Amino acid sequence: MVLHESIFHVPSGFKTLGSPPATAEIDLLIAIVQSNITGLASVVDAVSLPSGPSYGQYLTAAEVAEYVKPPADSLSAVMDWVTPHVASVKPFSPAGDILQVSLTVQQAEGLFNTKFSTYTHPATGQGMIRALNYSLPSTVQQHILHVHPIISFAPHPQRVSQNTVYKRKATLDRRQLAPCEDIIRPVCIQEYYGIPNTTISGSLTNTIGVAGYNAASLGEYANEDDLATFLNEFRPDIAGNTFSVALLNGAQNLQDNSGGLEGQIDIQYTVGVAGNVPTTYVLDEAAGDAATSYMDTINWLLSQEDPPTVFTTSYANEESDLTQSVSTSVCNGYMQLAAIGISMIFASGDGGASDNIQGCTSFVPMFPSTCPYVTSVGGTFFQPPTAFASSAGGFSNYFPVPSYQAADTAAYLESIGDEYSGMYNANGRGFPDVAAEWEVFIVNEGSVTSAGGTSCASPIFASFIALVNDRLIAAGKPVLGFLNPLLYSTGKGGLDDVTVGQSRGCSGSTGGWNSAAGWDPVSGLGTPDFAGMMSALGI
Ligand SMILES: *[C@@H]1O[C@H](CO)[C@@H](O)[C@H](O)[C@H]1NC(C)=O
Ligand SMILES: *[C@@H]1O[C@H](CO)[C@@H](O)[C@H](O)[C@H]1NC(C)=O
Ligand SMILES: *[C@@H]1O[C@H](CO)[C@@H](O)[C@H](O)[C@H]1NC(C)=O
Repeated sequence: MVLHESIFHVPSGFKTLGSPPATAEIDLLIAIVQSNITGLASVVDAVSLPSGPSYGQYLTAAEVAEYVKPPADSLSAVMDWVTPHVASVKPFSPAGDILQVSLTVQQAEGLFNTKFSTYTHPATGQGMIRALNYSLPSTVQQHILHVHPIISFAPHPQRVSQNTVYKRKATLDRRQLAPCEDIIRPVCIQEYYGIPNTTISGSLTNTIGVAGYNAASLGEYANEDDLATFLNEFRPDIAGNTFSVALLNGAQNLQDNSGGLEGQIDIQYTVGVAGNVPTTYVLDEAAGDAATSYMDTINWLLSQEDPPTVFTTSYANEESDLTQSVSTSVCNGYMQLAAIGISMIFASGDGGASDNIQGCTSFVPMFPSTCPYVTSVGGTFFQPPTAFASSAGGFSNYFPVPSYQAADTAAYLESIGDEYSGMYNANGRGFPDVAAEWEVFIVNEGSVTSAGGTSCASPIFASFIALVNDRLIAAGKPVLGFLNPLLYSTGKGGLDDVTVGQSRGCSGSTGGWNSAAGWDPVSGLGTPDFAGMMSALGI
């Protein structure tokens, strides 16, 4: 047996509750080496770069599977080793590169030569059976990337919405006419970003997916009555529109909802902004950790006949919650979705440069935003255009800077000199990529209330892209797919740069990144400009 992965101590704050029962059942994911992941990366470049040889010519999921399926000898080596020692083994990912094994703690301790303990997460109370290291047989090690979750202590995906501090009170009978400075609602977003009311292509396959996670513990549901009230009030021209629901791992989208902002924001600012774009709420109730949840959604997208063209997620985790090996697997999943032409859009997070950790000595990057195959959305105010202090951003400690943004991040870093040196990885992938309005009004439990966070910005940006796709389809062109190679090149004309504002850092209320001309790690390249994007795309 050879040591495969280890950490030296339990992440801070976790409590150890001792040994789990030897007969306790656990599920582990075994990620096997993939056939040709570097080949897939070059395919993604070719289909996503506007100057690429096959721009817009996306692969099918079956074609992608050929790149990521395990080589036959690797699969048989792993199967021969695990099968006698586990209760069950089955493919977890559609290509079979990730296997799910169910086994007892005692079996796992033997198989991986380790010792499990039960831990509880300080903030969420979530219980986890984990170990500090694991080993693999030397004959099998070369075939396995990692086994998960053993040494990863990530909680569930964390929602990034919040009640706004402003909690502005709306005069009820006048709110449709209120200035946008007082009540930000879909019409304001349409007006500021030039987003049209509705689709024109008639396409039924240009759709938006909206992620939801762990509703049973987070209490986040998308409520149909609240959406109806919201549209009646603020989008009477599309009143009656609704959404469909995909439920994963026993999730339920309960309608006897008593609050929860995230599900409401995410549905109301997709259905309510991307007029007539079919929208699906994809709710996952996975019992595992964040990486498993993100992978569930990836697997669902890869197995749809007509997956959404745009997918928005307002959940995030600190990058260091996940090990580098697991983050890389999840990010390779987003690479697969890039290859089939899905725009994966994520809220950057609401903790500024530091994830609200006072007195930190280094800035805190957020995942999945740090994966170079997703588009990360920070937060801004409309008037005057100013970056939101809580807009998370910075540089990855796991993923190197991708070539599509290298000149932009280098220019920003050059402009700040050695400010904050040592507090971030200057060679890392920079995020967010873009930004959008962070505070909006929603209907929750029947009443109009303000809500905020990059949670709002991500569905708004996704709606913008869905309507851009609609115009592309109407013009007989392919949808945008993975956005970043476009956004950092010819697509810059479809974004308005935000140059004012600063994010929160490690000390006090300021001390984070400054917004600046060009890309910056608070507002990215800027906010949507529909007309600008139309002309950048030549339509
Ligand atoms: C990997 O994929 C690339 C891109 O499609 C291809 O050119 C290359 O031949 C593939 N390599 C192998 C070993 O299959
Ligand atoms: C593995 O973790 C155990 C504690 O669970 C520890 O006693 C042991 O020294 C670790 N081994 C290595 C090689 O890190
Ligand atoms: C959008 O809808 C509103 C309300 O029905 C209408 O006043 C406005 O003119 C429409 N805008 C466009 C560009 O069609």
